[in-house]
Amino acid sequence: MKRIAIIGAGFRGIGCLRVLLQHGYQVDVYEKNNDVGGVWHPSNNYQGLKIHTPAKLNQFFDFPYPDNIDLSERLGSKQIFEYIKSFCIAKDLYSHITFNTQVHKIQYNTQSKTSTLLLSTNNGREYVTNKYDFIINTNGFCDKHIPEFKGAEKFNGEIIHSFDATEEEIKSIISSNKKVTVVGAGKTSTDLVSTFSKYNYKLTWLYRKAYWFLRFSPLQNAIKNGSSGDSGFSIYKMLMLLGFLISSHFPNLGCWLWKMTDVIDTYGERHSDFKKFHVALIDDSEFKTLKESNKLYGVIGEIDRFDKNGYYLKNKRFIESDVVICCTGSSGTKSLVNIEIDGEKLNLNNVYKSYRASVIPQVPNLIFTAYHHFVMGLGDGELQAQWIMNYMESNYNEAYLRKNALTYDYPFFTKLILFDASEYYFPSFMKMQFDFIKNHEMGSMEYVKFIYNFFFKPGRLEPLKMNFSTHVQEHEIRTAPIEHA
Ligand SMILES: Cc1cc2nc3c(=O)[nH]c(=O)nc-3n(C[C@H](O)[C@H](O)[C@H](O)COP(=O)(O)OP(=O)(O)OC[C@H]3O[C@@H](n4cnc5c(N)ncnc54)[C@H](O)[C@@H]3O)c2cc1C
Ligand SMILES: NC(=O)c1ccc[n+]([C@@H]2O[C@H](COP(=O)([O-])OP(=O)(O)OC[C@H]3O[C@@H](n4cnc5c(N)ncnc54)[C@H](OP(=O)(O)O)[C@@H]3O)[C@@H](O)[C@H]2O)c1
Repeated sequence: MKRIAIIGAGFRGIGCLRVLLQHGYQVDVYEKNNDVGGVWHPSNNYQGLKIHTPAKLNQFFDFPYPDNIDLSERLGSKQIFEYIKSFCIAKDLYSHITFNTQVHKIQYNTQSKTSTLLLSTNNGREYVTNKYDFIINTNGFCDKHIPEFKGAEKFNGEIIHSFDATEEEIKSIISSNKKVTVVGAGKTSTDLVSTFSKYNYKLTWLYRKAYWFLRFSPLQNAIKNGSSGDSGFSIYKMLMLLGFLISSHFPNLGCWLWKMTDVIDTYGERHSDFKKFHVALIDDSEFKTLKESNKLYGVIGEIDRFDKNGYYLKNKRFIESDVVICCTGSSGTKSLVNIEIDGEKLNLNNVYKSYRASVIPQVPNLIFTAYHHFVMGLGDGELQAQWIMNYMESNYNEAYLRKNALTYDYPFFTKLILFDASEYYFPSFMKMQFDFIKNHEMGSMEYVKFIYNFFFKPGRLEPLKMNFSTHVQEHEIRTAPIEHA
């Protein structure tokens, strides 16, 4: 029986654990935090964080939300955390997870084709595990990225990452009347600007260029109409689908269509640089707040250097600030575990090839899950697990993987597709999907059907079907209600 270690107990780690156990593998999960959840663990949640994809898209396949949850709604981070915990309890997964334990090193042996892990626990104990046949590394999404600012050491105030802007922290900032700067133009910055505006609190919103986002309100209407039985065609649905199809090859044209027909919106200047496009969803009332906040507090610019009481922008303007909240996203590599091959450290900056955006040829028994996704939403772990089982049973060697890997024009581990603002989203996403479709691991019609069902079919979303014999079909219905946050 194959022994597998999973690094991380976020949605992908838990999805993989569940599916692999169902198929008889022996699996151990190591998680540095004190509970499951990953991005959705309270220690990583800023105030106001919700999942932006509707509940319909965010269920484990055999663990649907109870009937009191509106599938068109976006659930709050606390609800998502409760959901993954109740899934782990219901499926008896906790006993397979070792918490408060960080993986520091993966040691691959080319002779035995197995790996051991170097671990450390919260109380300082270090140890090496037994041999594993495969390692699944889910690390990547909750690594905090804060840019290296010149003069930061002179600054009397605080520079924090958005993950640390918890409810407590924001209340303390407001009660001590601190001057706040929110840095960034992505989804996180919009959430925090909205949160501060709920308190009527002044701030500086500093960013380089405004982003386009999908409008949530018409999509929610489409999903709601669907759930009440009216799955009819609408111009909105047609535009939405057409935009997706066109964008996968001609992102400017697809986004331009969406821009002209108000499928997307922005809080800032209506530019045509569609690399600044987030698949994230913002509803119309929030857009209104953001547009007002942008008029009042928006500053287009970039920090040049910090001084005692604030920072200078590149255009020499000085802005006073006590707290700078960096909504500057996640880092793909910051805490990526060290990898050794037969005792020699692998330099990840020299890795340009990746097989299905999941395996680097040098270490065939190590699978990464953070660098592509089959579907938006939390069921992705279960889909990845299906691919992983098929991959593990195929026993490919380094030469095969090299021959069949895609070559990237940047070091592979420097970018996470979801967080890469320097590329058009849809073509990068489709390039990865196409690799699976071209190799008959995912049917193109199955994929189109899945997208169609998301927008057009009433009720629950059927999982994407992959072309593997191991596909999980089992459907159990969960009855316990989830409390609203
Ligand atoms: C703020 C934010 C909002 C998002 N919103 C959405 C959304 O609305 N919809 C959507 O589909 N996607 C969203 N995403 C993408 C999101 O990351 C995925 O949906 C999903 O939750 C990621 O799960 P994961 O298991 O891949 O990674 P994570 O949730 O990051 O889990 C990885 C786990 O690995 C652990 N870990 C890392 N390194 C080690 C180590 N060395 N040793 C031991 N443990 C380790 C971490 O502690 C963590 O628990 C969002 C991402 C962010 C950052
Ligand atoms: N569920 C939700 O509601 C939700 C909430 C938050 C995030 N998310 C998801 O999480 C992911 C990350 O979103 P995010 O908004 O946290 O991060 P992000 O999309 O990576 O955006 C980072 C922002 O920081 C800016 N930035 C980065 N480095 C900078 C620097 N050195 N100086 C100035 N600005 C810098 C970027 O500017 P440039 O664009 O100019 O490079 C960009 O505006 C996205 O996929 C998003 O969909 C979802």
